[in-house]
Amino acid sequence: MNLNRNDLCWCKSGLKYKKCHLEFDERLDNLKRKGHIVPTRKLIKTKDQIEGIKKSAQVNNGILDLISKNIKEGMTTEEIDKLAYDYTISNGAIPATLNYDGYPKSLCVSINDEVCHGIPSKDVILKNGDIVNVDVTTILNGYYSDASRMFMIGEVNDEAKKLVQVAKECLNKGLEAAKPWGFLGDIGAAIEEHAKSNGYSVVRDFGGHGIGLDIHEEPFVFHFGKRGTDMVLAPGMVFTIEPMINAGSHEIFIDENDGWTVLTADGSLSAQWEHTVLVTEDGIEIISK
Ligand code: MF3
Ligand code: CO
Ligand code: CO
Repeated sequence: MNLNRNDLCWCKSGLKYKKCHLEFDERLDNLKRKGHIVPTRKLIKTKDQIEGIKKSAQVNNGILDLISKNIKEGMTTEEIDKLAYDYTISNGAIPATLNYDGYPKSLCVSINDEVCHGIPSKDVILKNGDIVNVDVTTILNGYYSDASRMFMIGEVNDEAKKLVQVAKECLNKGLEAAKPWGFLGDIGAAIEEHAKSNGYSVVRDFGGHGIGLDIHEEPFVFHFGKRGTDMVLAPGMVFTIEPMINAGSHEIFIDENDGWTVLTADGSLSAQWEHTVLVTEDGIEIISK
């Protein structure tokens, strides 16, 4: 649909198109003509949607803060799940993973060689030396947010500590590479380089994702790739960056028993940190912070 200059903008700002997204659309059209992949309008969040996603992220962050205060050796992963569920509900929100595609719990807890999507259980007890990823996704008033952090239980060996640290640096490299009118490939390239230069590998079968109106939206965010390629990053896009870094090979498999837990094929350790980000006019904003 082509708008006239004096029509109201498609982004519902209430401004005339010429004062709002006209230049933005022209810029994207140009990039598209040059052969680049550009985001559809659905991926450009309106002001109201961004506000909603930020409020959702506040609850999501509150959950992670609560877990970081309480997580300790001897605790079951089901107890972590319970903390998250209760906090979420008492803040008027809904755990996005609960019953998502049949997933049975309010968050994911992935320990040591588990890459992601570990299911909380009363039979899994955190022990000294574990490295643990807790991944939380929240729906508030229909808006989605997603973040994960690593936790180290008790005395963790240097090898595991280094992996956790480098995985965090990988996320930071990805965040630094994310710029308005840059490319998704810039993010993946930066992450892959940092992982490889530390002798680690990047999981290829899972990635980040657009988020906001649904748990997983377009685009798929690769954590490897080539600068200047893949989708153009335009102001208003909201997506996650969540590199999964393996100490050994990048290969993974899914636990046949539960159908969810992703593990490293070689049994090596894996670490992951995740943020939800908004692309702005002049940079990015980390919403999950
Ligand atoms: N929070 C996860 C992500 O980062 C999604 C988990 S979906 C589940 O994309 F079903 F496995 F919980
Ligand atoms: Co997540
Ligand atoms: Co995610």
